[in-house]
Amino acid sequence: MAKLVSFVFVLSLLAFAPLCFCGRNNGGFGSLYPQYYDHSCPKAKEIVKSIMAKAFAREARIAASILRLHFHDCFVQGCDASLLLDSSGNIRTEKNSNPNRNSARGFEVIDEIKSALEKECPQTVSCADILALAARDSTVITGGPYWEVPLGRKDSRTASLSGSNNNIPAPNNTFQTILNRFQNQGLDIVDLVALSGGHTIGNSRCTSFRQRLYNQNGNGQPDKTLPQSLATELRNRCPRSGGDNNLFSLDYVSPTKFDNSYFKNLVGFKGLLNSDQVLLTGNDASAALVKKYADDSEEFFEQFAKSMIKMSNISPLTGSSGEIRKTCRKINT
Ligand code: HEM
Repeated sequence: MAKLVSFVFVLSLLAFAPLCFCGRNNGGFGSLYPQYYDHSCPKAKEIVKSIMAKAFAREARIAASILRLHFHDCFVQGCDASLLLDSSGNIRTEKNSNPNRNSARGFEVIDEIKSALEKECPQTVSCADILALAARDSTVITGGPYWEVPLGRKDSRTASLSGSNNNIPAPNNTFQTILNRFQNQGLDIVDLVALSGGHTIGNSRCTSFRQRLYNQNGNGQPDKTLPQSLATELRNRCPRSGGDNNLFSLDYVSPTKFDNSYFKNLVGFKGLLNSDQVLLTGNDASAALVKKYADDSEEFFEQFAKSMIKMSNISPLTGSSGEIRKTCRKINT
């Protein structure tokens, strides 16, 4: 009898899960589920995937750029596509924040996906879900792990420029500040190290790591954890002044391949950003994780997928909260 009661209880939880927990979700996985569009827009996942594949064929870096957009969206008001809004009326775009200005890219590809989805099934698939799917596809396209993306997010009617400036970690933050910013989003040290593995693909501008080369602690000295030879090489194209937008691979070994060489680089003190290298030098627990992922790419892939699902579940708008935007760049009128 007890078994029957608990069976019925679990069943009813499953049946009602999509209907409850509406509004800003606390990060539990209750309200989102992978089959969300199976009836309302059965081709949605396929459409995202094929446009991502075309965009990747045009330019390999796009995968990295889109993966980053999802991260920068989720850390500000949750994964609600607030990052995609342009300035207008009361909205001050997050695209102008310190982490995003002259840096965040890939918005045109999201527009392309959205307009294809609007043709296929009007006002059905949210921009927030497009970002979550496109980030997964970016990972797979570059050789990384696959996971089923829980879906059903709605889009915000607001953006937060200050949230974008304050919540997203900066490359010159201390280990503790970076960890705090992850913890503020309900993510832990394991998520921090695994998700930083996203830097196995993509580029950084000189301006994001220059401090390490010339003046790490305000005393005119370079970062002492940076090997001489690497410092010399980087200074060639990242001078003391000028060249701010010169690009460098975050993972110099295999910049367009999603693999664990990012962690191998860190073990060899060859991380590009200060925020990368401090995962090895700033904390014993994170150093152990870096070494684990450097040794075992399967462990990294498995944890990356888990942590991505966790990050994708930060405070989604669900149910009658938020809206399905017609255009990702502006709220519905
Ligand atoms: C842990 C804290 C993090 C910091 C401080 C950080 C910082 C940065 C910085 C400074 C850049 C280069 C931006 C530029 O110079 O234009 C960058 C690029 C990138 N980040 Fe992060 N990041 C962090 C975590 C993450 C996470 C969690 C992900 C995804 C899971 C991610 C994915 C990326 C990708 C893919 C790029 C390359 C983008 C491109 O080539 O367009 N980052 N990050």
